[in-house]
Amino acid sequence: MSVDVRFEPAERLRGHITAPPDKSISHRAALLAGMTDEPVRISNYLHAEDTHATLDAVRALGALVEDRGDEIVVRGVGLREAREVSAPIDVGNAGTLMRLLPGWLAAQEGRAWTIDGDASIRRRPVDRIAEPLTRMGARIDARDGRFPPFTVHGARLRAISYDLPVASAQVKSCVLLAGLVAEGATTVHEPIPSRDHTERMLAAAGVGVHRNGRRVTVSSADELELDTIAVPGDPSSAAYAVAAGVLVPGSRLVVRNCAANWTRTGFMRIVQRMGGIVIGDLEEEPGDDVPRTEPVTELDVTAGPLVGTTVEPDEVPLAIDELPLVALLGCFAEGETVVRGAEELRVKESDRIEAVVTGLRGLGAEIEGTPDGFVVTGTGGLRGGRIESLGDHRLAMLGAIAGMASTEGVEVIGMDAAAVSYPTFAEDFAALR
Ligand code: S3P
Repeated sequence: MSVDVRFEPAERLRGHITAPPDKSISHRAALLAGMTDEPVRISNYLHAEDTHATLDAVRALGALVEDRGDEIVVRGVGLREAREVSAPIDVGNAGTLMRLLPGWLAAQEGRAWTIDGDASIRRRPVDRIAEPLTRMGARIDARDGRFPPFTVHGARLRAISYDLPVASAQVKSCVLLAGLVAEGATTVHEPIPSRDHTERMLAAAGVGVHRNGRRVTVSSADELELDTIAVPGDPSSAAYAVAAGVLVPGSRLVVRNCAANWTRTGFMRIVQRMGGIVIGDLEEEPGDDVPRTEPVTELDVTAGPLVGTTVEPDEVPLAIDELPLVALLGCFAEGETVVRGAEELRVKESDRIEAVVTGLRGLGAEIEGTPDGFVVTGTGGLRGGRIESLGDHRLAMLGAIAGMASTEGVEVIGMDAAAVSYPTFAEDFAALR
């Protein structure tokens, strides 16, 4: 059932919020813990629909998962002992789970699993992971060769050197996970740097992971040595507070415990370039040594005028999930805001180019879609109206922030979609008003 919520214009937003736990890192924490023999304690795990699907998946594969309130304890099955199950593994709406898990399963010799999900998942391509896994020796049978449901037939894998055709952290991570159990050292070459949480967590688990420019190499491993994982706050969720703080006149707010990893803070740098006041201790681009930790920072945000900017293709993976918010900021900025090289947005939980253009235009924006992004002409504000989430969590939250910054308010059709990544969204923002 769709829950429709109206977001009235906010006068000013003031106070402190804590960024909700990071979705990408929570998925990886649960998966890697499931691949570990010894118990792994995960603190600040994200309790949301997507990341619960990952806990359910590792449970189905034989891990024990205990929720102790302040932490989750996972007793995994080790790298090579995932249990075969006859029922399909249901990833729900979680693209990250759908693309990372097969990396592990592909290396389980002689066993097979079917993976399926909701209507949105069934529209998202898996050929991008099937291709490298097939080259490593596994067999993947997908609907129409491209879409879920699909079956992963595990095999003895050989290492490959793989040039990613798309800059995707999910595909990179899938190949690296398969590489853990392949014979030899597996290398992935990325055209543009993308989030590096998998590399950092594997390095922390004692695996040989080396970076050489845009090449990442992982050695095969006998076991993972993880004891505790602390999940930092999610910069993609914090981005909604940052956008609201910059746009709603008179606002001043602080977002605590936000991950400061360079590969995730592209949006904060774009906002700063647009003239937005966002102060935080953001990580510099790391060199070839793979960090083993995830830095965190506090963000101090003040409302102020913005100017348009151009987001170039090499910035896109560093801000991929926040690009709808860049379009929103563009509506309020002076001049034009352009995003280029973001065709990947078309295969997210919705076609996010189409959805953002239609959604914001319905609220009064001057915005045009292009094959690989959009062009927004700032008009100094946004009227308001109604926007459909299309079941996409990031569109639902985009509509909510648009409402707070608009002159007439916005009704979001399908606000319940936010539960996929940010279940406490409504409470957090209510506390700032
Ligand atoms: C993610 C990678 C990105 C991002 C997604 C999470 C991850 O997807 O959009 O929300 O956790 O690795 P792609 O790798 O497909 O760009």
